[in-house]
Amino acid sequence: MVYIGNAKFERNAPCWCGSGKKYKNCHESFDEKLRSYALKGAIVPDRGLIKTPEQIRGIKESAKVNIAVLDEVASRIREGMTTEEIDEIVYDVTVKSGAIPAPLHYEGFPKSVCTSINEEVCHGIPAPDRVLKDGDIINVDVSTILNGFFSDSSRMFLIGNVSEEKKKLVQVTKECVDIGISMVKPWTFLGDMGDAVHRHALENGYSVVREIGGHGCGLEFHEDPYVSYVSRPGTEMLMVPGMCFTIEPMVNMGTDKIYQDEENGWTIYTDDGMPSAQWEVQVVVTEDGCEVVTW
Ligand code: MF3
Ligand code: CO
Repeated sequence: MVYIGNAKFERNAPCWCGSGKKYKNCHESFDEKLRSYALKGAIVPDRGLIKTPEQIRGIKESAKVNIAVLDEVASRIREGMTTEEIDEIVYDVTVKSGAIPAPLHYEGFPKSVCTSINEEVCHGIPAPDRVLKDGDIINVDVSTILNGFFSDSSRMFLIGNVSEEKKKLVQVTKECVDIGISMVKPWTFLGDMGDAVHRHALENGYSVVREIGGHGCGLEFHEDPYVSYVSRPGTEMLMVPGMCFTIEPMVNMGTDKIYQDEENGWTIYTDDGMPSAQWEVQVVVTEDGCEVVTW
């Protein structure tokens, strides 16, 4: 992860970031700053994780499709619908937009979207016999590839009359993401953000899944860094402008312990059978904070 650039030989050459400016007038001081953090022992991103303006434009175009897909799901999701029908909506809207659903055939995943209901933490597989019932909470996790650029976001939906307890879990999880967004600032650490997310969940009596988190996203579905929401301040990767990653904590009403479905090899459940919620956004780190590209 540590990048040690050779500024001397590149100062008049075009900057590596693709801006078209000379290196000395563009990312030279940035590289020096990064190097000083690296020398102090910080985990710093390598250049591949810092997106060029053109790449960010591509990611945002992909994100527009991603949002449109979720908006369509939002307008049609209802009690009595099967998760298979949600999969069909996601596939149709994505493909009609000239894009590809990233989950389809990803490491053998059989469907176009993840649909995770109640105690399902993530990676629920849509099925024709899985019917949405009154009182369910469901996460619909949509990931999109457009012109080779990846976007990823998910929302929770409440089906019919949902208990106050479950509503609060969904609401607090959304607040966790908002807090995460507010903590994305260049030259601070992912661990600062992860800890703030974690604390908000804990303050509300919830737990946060430890083994699965967010990820860099943009040129690949899952890139570095791994983004934990149980991390400590001042640890994990340094955030710098141009980095693009997801904020997607999985918040459990009960234990943080989870297990994987042995039959399908994908779906993750809470160990105690209590509900879990998740919202996901994708952000690009800017000079003074971040821009949310999927929301
Ligand atoms: N969308 C999930 C994420 O946020 C990844 C799902 S992988 C799949 O990282 F294969 F299950 F789609
Ligand atoms: Co994701």
